[in-house]
Amino acid sequence: MLVELCDEYFGYACTPMHIVVLTGAGISRESGLKTFRDDDGLWEGYSIEEVCTPRAFAEHPERVLDFYNFRRKEVAQVEPNAAHFALAELGTHYTTNVITQNIDDLHERAGSHRVLHIHGEIFKARSTFDFEEQQEIRGDIHLGDLAADGHQLRPHICFFEETPYDWDKAMILAESADVFIVIGTSLSVYPAAGLLDITPAKRKILVDPKPNLRGRPGFEVIAEPATIGVPRLVRDLLTSASS
Ligand code: APR
Repeated sequence: MLVELCDEYFGYACTPMHIVVLTGAGISRESGLKTFRDDDGLWEGYSIEEVCTPRAFAEHPERVLDFYNFRRKEVAQVEPNAAHFALAELGTHYTTNVITQNIDDLHERAGSHRVLHIHGEIFKARSTFDFEEQQEIRGDIHLGDLAADGHQLRPHICFFEETPYDWDKAMILAESADVFIVIGTSLSVYPAAGLLDITPAKRKILVDPKPNLRGRPGFEVIAEPATIGVPRLVRDLLTSASS
């Protein structure tokens, strides 16, 4: 990557190799969190239309609040796994930006510092009136709980039909990657999946036990669970760069 690009856009000096990682629910599965579209996935038990759209929140706010209250309790009870820790280790050697579709905080708890949550964060809430009126939330959100601006609180989660958060930055990161790693995502949801199509990275690597690049060329594929494939990949990146 052009190192100056880093300074210009991100305000920090990038190492000569800029690594960008796109993660999905699969990286957190071995921590004990369900994915969405695997056999036992979340969307097996819930309908997206009932719990993850603006209309659902407008028509049945308690149902949506309860769904995310339940997921907040789940995330609080699990720990990062070897894949999260391996990415954090990678970030101590090279500028490593994680773009995650996940709303859990497992990347941060493992020690990654550059994490972009394009689908939101389970431990954040915001005003239904002002997107910028955000706050930390650890407990439940109930109907009648108000943000500082006096409007109803909602989960700071990107519902379907809403625009992913920090999307411009996510695109700049993908376009400035020297190595682009994809971990544990079915690539079902756009625009997140489209990041694979805009990156000029010299190395593009997918880690997923059931890989499905949907015809995309040029990817190295590690068909392993994240806790096996990611630590191995990080070792490969660190040894090949030091030799
Ligand atoms: N290690 C790595 N990958 C795994 C593992 C594992 N142990 N187990 C499953 N996977 C892979 C699956 O093969 C699949 O490719 O994780 C992926 C999970 O896909 P989805 O359930 O569709 O999750 P994700 O791609 O993150 O969904 C994207 O859709 O519902 C929305 O907002 C939600 O962010 C989510 C988005």
